[in-house]
Amino acid sequence: MSSERNRPFVYRVTLTPESLAEFDNHIVRRLSSMRGQYYDQLAYEAMLAQDDVILYEVYEIVRPEVPGELMTGLSIVHPGKVGDEYFMTKGHFHAVLETAEIYHCLRGQGFMLMETPQGDWAIEDLLPGNVLYIPPYWSHRSINTGQEDLVTYFAYPGHAGHDYGTIEQFGFRKLVLERNGKPVIVDNPRWRPPEER
Ligand code: F6R
Ligand code: ZN
Repeated sequence: MSSERNRPFVYRVTLTPESLAEFDNHIVRRLSSMRGQYYDQLAYEAMLAQDDVILYEVYEIVRPEVPGELMTGLSIVHPGKVGDEYFMTKGHFHAVLETAEIYHCLRGQGFMLMETPQGDWAIEDLLPGNVLYIPPYWSHRSINTGQEDLVTYFAYPGHAGHDYGTIEQFGFRKLVLERNGKPVIVDNPRWRPPEER
């Protein structure tokens, strides 16, 4: 396949087993890889004791990790909650902060929670048809608030890389929780402003 990929190529995002088999990488993230990330740690441990469920999956078309290339693929966050906090991705900054990303929502419903190193934050709807443009410097986490898979198509620069450490340590400034059957945005008690870190 790799030699063919120095020429233009097509792949599909139809989510059929055949189309998913066209991707180079399939990354599976389970509950056990998110220890410390959900605010209700008792709910987390109780759930993990039952089953190490799959929270989300990523299908990637691998390209050289250099400026000029694009990394593209599908992100699929499954529906569910840990306590009253919706299933979500780990979230990250790009290691090269000066790199943007676009997400095109194909199915499901949810949010993208975003934050800058200075602590500015933003949240946008992920709904079918929405294209979200994430400028350079904004970390991002997708959150599934619906009853079905939240499927997004992403594209970002080949040399961006990923920095998960900051989010692992402090989380995002906000949490998205379910209250009376609806998503609400609340402060994350674990978060600290950059000057206090
Ligand atoms: C790449 C990107 C997405 C995410 C994917 C999983 O820069 O933003 O492909 O990697 O949605 O989320 P993380 O990487 O936060 O586990
Ligand atoms: Zn990213």
